Amino acid sequence: AIDIRQLYQNHGLLTFDPGFKSTASCKSSITYIDGDQGILRYRGYPIEELGRTCSFTEVTHLLIYGELPDSAGLTSFNHTIHEHNLLHEQVISFYRGFRRDAHPMAVMVGVVGALSAFYQDLQDYSQPDQQMKAAIRLFAKMPTIAAASYTYSIGRPARYPDNRLDYASNLLQMMFGKPNEAYEVDPVIAKALDLILILHADHEQNASTSTVRMAASSGANPFACIASGIATLWGPAHGGANEAVLNMLEEIGSIENIPNAIRRAKDRNDPFRLMGFGHRVYKNHDPRSAIIRDMTKSVLKHLNMEDDPLLAIALELERVALSDAYFIEKKLYPNVDFYSGILLSAMGFPRRMFTALFAVARTSGWVSHWLELKNDTTHGIDRPRQLYVGSSLRHVERR
Ligand code: ACO
Repeated sequence: AIDIRQLYQNHGLLTFDPGFKSTASCKSSITYIDGDQGILRYRGYPIEELGRTCSFTEVTHLLIYGELPDSAGLTSFNHTIHEHNLLHEQVISFYRGFRRDAHPMAVMVGVVGALSAFYQDLQDYSQPDQQMKAAIRLFAKMPTIAAASYTYSIGRPARYPDNRLDYASNLLQMMFGKPNEAYEVDPVIAKALDLILILHADHEQNASTSTVRMAASSGANPFACIASGIATLWGPAHGGANEAVLNMLEEIGSIENIPNAIRRAKDRNDPFRLMGFGHRVYKNHDPRSAIIRDMTKSVLKHLNMEDDPLLAIALELERVALSDAYFIEKKLYPNVDFYSGILLSAMGFPRRMFTALFAVARTSGWVSHWLELKNDTTHGIDRPRQLYVGSSLRHVERR
């Protein structure tokens, strides 16, 4: 890589890279991606191995601290999460200011941003213990915040976290448990959710993580930084894609309509795109996609939903697209979101919660990047330049 700062300082040279297609914005030791080989590793461990052998809590420990926990370390990490997973009653009343039909992501942007007003004891973020406390608070509270945004939307009182349960099971009981009723966690569903959380935990400098880092580079409050990440994640080109995939599969409606969908996706004059296809970095395959596809098949089998018509359309769409010259030439493959919507839907999650779950998972990565940036003394405020293409000098003329 060329250190462009030297060229700028000595020769005034600027690079023009709209959308940062070929610009590394920072150094990071958290996640490694090789888009040509379809490789994804967290702190050196292949995603496939982590998905097979670890829990989301262990993976978050890995992302935050750089190492997987031993058994005592995991107990202590869980204990810290349990200490911080409740919401202040005043935060619960804060929800009441939102329209009840608001999108959960709109509510989450607001609630997470507002946490900065609730934690005024944490003000010196140059101190490692305060940094860690903010990171843990965010990670621990996010399932409670996401579940409350759902229960509020359906008019049901929010349930408290149950510290006898693991992170994913706890999220399930807060989402789906009825007030004053025991909620029986289906271990297959809990395992699937845990895997989804692992697969979405981090993905280096994606749009939302870059936003978090850019906000953090100004020294902004961590709760506000994560709120900016949630806002960015919401877009259909990013975390909103799995919701958009289901809408698209329903719009396609049947296997007979797939050729027409493929034709439309290839037409440059038609805004229709195959949602869940393509990736800025993966130009071979997205390693998360196959893991999710296999999990989707096994969960649907467990739920006796193997005949799900949307799964049939998705499988056929993938097959047809992968043998189509346009998709081959442009290196467009199913990404992590192509099957995750079908899976989440079968697990009982309403469509509007899909991106909220993604936000819960990605909080793990966001706080790790926030911590990394806070401890990088060489990284100043992010301040991209631009190519000005507006009017040349002109003067006000009063008529
Ligand atoms: N369907 C049809 N054509 C596509 C698609 C698609 N899904 N994705 C890209 N293309 C085409 C583009 O039209 C473009 O064609 P051109 O060369 O004729 O101009 C070419 O492939 C390159 O696409 P870009 O948009 O330049 O690629 P970029 O890296 O900017 O975009 C993105 C990546 C946003 C993911 C894109 O592929 C897309 O919109 N996919 C659908 C949305 C989606 O699934 N997003 C989730 C991403 S993963 C995540 O955030 C978790």
